[in-house]
Amino acid sequence: MGRVEGKVCIITGAASGMGKADAVMLAEQGAFVVLTDLNEKDGQAVAAQIGERAIFIKHNVTSESDWQHVVSTAVERFGRLDVLVNNAGMMALGNVVECSLEDYRRVNAVNSEGVFLGCKTAIPAMEAAGNGGSIINMSSVAAMHGMSFVAAYSASKGAVMALTKSVALYCREKRNGIRCNSIHPDGVKTPMVFKVATGQETASREEIESLSTEANPMCEPEDIASLVLYLASDESRFINAAEMLIDNASTATPPIGI
Ligand SMILES: NC(=O)c1ccc[n+]([C@@H]2O[C@H](COP(=O)([O-])OP(=O)(O)OC[C@H]3O[C@@H](n4cnc5c(N)ncnc54)[C@H](O)[C@@H]3O)[C@@H](O)[C@H]2O)c1
Repeated sequence: MGRVEGKVCIITGAASGMGKADAVMLAEQGAFVVLTDLNEKDGQAVAAQIGERAIFIKHNVTSESDWQHVVSTAVERFGRLDVLVNNAGMMALGNVVECSLEDYRRVNAVNSEGVFLGCKTAIPAMEAAGNGGSIINMSSVAAMHGMSFVAAYSASKGAVMALTKSVALYCREKRNGIRCNSIHPDGVKTPMVFKVATGQETASREEIESLSTEANPMCEPEDIASLVLYLASDESRFINAAEMLIDNASTATPPIGI
């Protein structure tokens, strides 16, 4: 019996990085997984690797009609919806002065509006199933302390953190049994981090590994997936509106002078 046996989960951004690790781990623990991403080729490959418990749907998280299609397909195919992992995200380099308004809007459309649309569309489907549910929103430590070189990204992740609490409170008020939590990683060894660090579009496993140093070690996508699995499962049934840091103490600043 898996830890999420029979649960139906949608994972966005599942063609790569953490979303891929989430989908694989949830399926290993008995879930039916609906993988979505803009990247159809890699998304299909991950779904094929998982096997018959998985389907892939091409999805732009900024599109409301795409979201309606994803949620209705999940319900048609697997009978209900229990878990939504709002993981898809992007980054644009630039401090507040350098960042163009276009980039600011582009990043916030994916990272913030995409999460809003996901919650908005998934909640009625979870309510229809009547089993409660778990929504897991991927934020970042950038929501807590800001990052000067990625102003738009930091703002978008702050919005995710605040939206998560509003969603959790709404669901608690409605007594629908749906929980909503945000995850706040620091550095994770994924293609996104490599792109930001080097400006290169693609990277080998070795190149991504090389970014992790003894002084600043980065975690694996599976370290985040373990937390996603816990939040998706009923083991976390009293964890709601939480900011789940997974940062190896990087945000725990010692008092000045120590
Ligand atoms: N890697 C890190 O260090 C780190 C740290 C904190 C938070 N995060 C967050 O974790 C999440 C996953 O990031 P990752 O590091 O695995 O990155 P990644 O680039 O490996 O994966 C992100 C995926 O999202 C998809 N995507 C982008 N825009 C999309 C859209 N409009 N619609 C659908 N899919 C879209 C991409 O195609 C890609 O497959 C993101 O929200 C990211 O901001 C990452």
